[in-house]
Amino acid sequence: MKKILFVCLGNICRSPLAEGLMLSKISNMDNEEQFKIDSCGTADYHIGELPDERTRENAQENGLELKHRARQFDASDFNRFDHILVMDNANKMKIIGFATSEEHLQKVQLMRDYETEINLQGIDVPDPYYGGEEGFQNVYDILDRCTENLLNYHLQAIEN
Ligand code: 4NP
Repeated sequence: MKKILFVCLGNICRSPLAEGLMLSKISNMDNEEQFKIDSCGTADYHIGELPDERTRENAQENGLELKHRARQFDASDFNRFDHILVMDNANKMKIIGFATSEEHLQKVQLMRDYETEINLQGIDVPDPYYGGEEGFQNVYDILDRCTENLLNYHLQAIEN
């Protein structure tokens, strides 16, 4: 089974959207049961909350319903997941701070490492929380691309 955890700061904008996109892409496939998908935040500001209303509205406009309830990253997530996809470099550094082995470290990647265009790899998924409405569609487009590439990467690994 592929166990994938998406991480951002608040777990109400970027990572629950990545989770929702991934779940939606997987729900159209035969090997749905081969994946375990979740998301969380490094901060505790929004524990128990649904995603931000603007994120949910934008997702709805794109045909996606988000039902995740925010939770905070826990060091035990290193044992519960194989792949930890973090939305930006600052939160990646926080997650790396919880690692206690080389095995843990190898699980941590940036979400935009899965961009097709090399010049976009390694940069942050912008935080839309304090920005305007157009920021949410931009984040949606980025995460739609990156989750598609992430899924295809794992599907190839399953087939081989
Ligand atoms: P997220 O966005 O990390 O994509 O969920 C944010 C959500 C909340 C806050 C910051 C970023 N906040 O400061 O409350």
